[in-house]
Amino acid sequence: MKILEVNNLSKDFGGLRAVDNLSLAMEQGEILGLIGPNGAGKSTAFNCIAGVYPPTEGTIRFCEERINNRKPWDLCKQGLARTFQIVKPFSSKTVLYNVMVGSFANTDRKSTARDKALDVLDFLHLADKRDLPAGSMTIADRKRLEIGRALATEPKLILLDEVMAGLRPTEVDEMVDIIRKVRDSGISVFLIEHIMRAIMALSDRLAVIHFGKKIAEGAPKDVAADENVIKAYLGDEYVVS
Ligand SMILES: Nc1ncnc2c1ncn2[C@@H]1O[C@H](COP(=O)(O)OP(=O)(O)O)[C@@H](O)[C@H]1O
Ligand SMILES: [Mg+2]
Repeated sequence: MKILEVNNLSKDFGGLRAVDNLSLAMEQGEILGLIGPNGAGKSTAFNCIAGVYPPTEGTIRFCEERINNRKPWDLCKQGLARTFQIVKPFSSKTVLYNVMVGSFANTDRKSTARDKALDVLDFLHLADKRDLPAGSMTIADRKRLEIGRALATEPKLILLDEVMAGLRPTEVDEMVDIIRKVRDSGISVFLIEHIMRAIMALSDRLAVIHFGKKIAEGAPKDVAADENVIKAYLGDEYVVS
């Protein structure tokens, strides 16, 4: 089953076409990577899929159902969760509280929400930090918390927007392991990432956008060797290893 199908999606901000006639599809259980230069329209595409912005044109289907113009919280309840490029936890609240906010997508019971949040924190190796204020955590832990808030909603598809930005190499490796584990738990993963070695290692397929348009899509190795991709994004010095 196609978990996500984006057809001819465009998004205008005034005179600027941030996403331009983008079409993409994802199979259930897949990890799809999205790369492109800064300002290419990656986050805007995510925002349209997650219901933050109404598309200017095009259709978005999730689990084979048209979801144009649905609100983020409703989509979240249906199983479409996302993280934000800029992490915004409730800083003075505990880590556990922040994850419980996500759990309430599926339950009104506080005890059920708490149990789910504790499971998620275990999964992310954050259980020992559950009582700390979110604002006191390192960047790496905050990025994990952001994933935790999304996982607590019990998504079928998770959109990850640069969850490795600002991380040290060892932290990147840990995040790669976490994202694999997320997929192995049955969740489809659509991720935007600038760290090439991470996105190359993780993605089943990779799509590249430039000025809002898709310029390449395919197996990571093929995409990284594509002349247009090297010109637009990777730079001539990039060599596929
Ligand atoms: N809310 C907005 N209002 C106006 N312009 C926006 C808005 N969000 C993004 N843009 C513009 O859309 C383009 C794509 O931005 P973005 O999707 O954030 O790119 P990326 O995530 O690939 O770096 C940029 O030119 C950006 O300035
Ligand atoms: Mg972005």
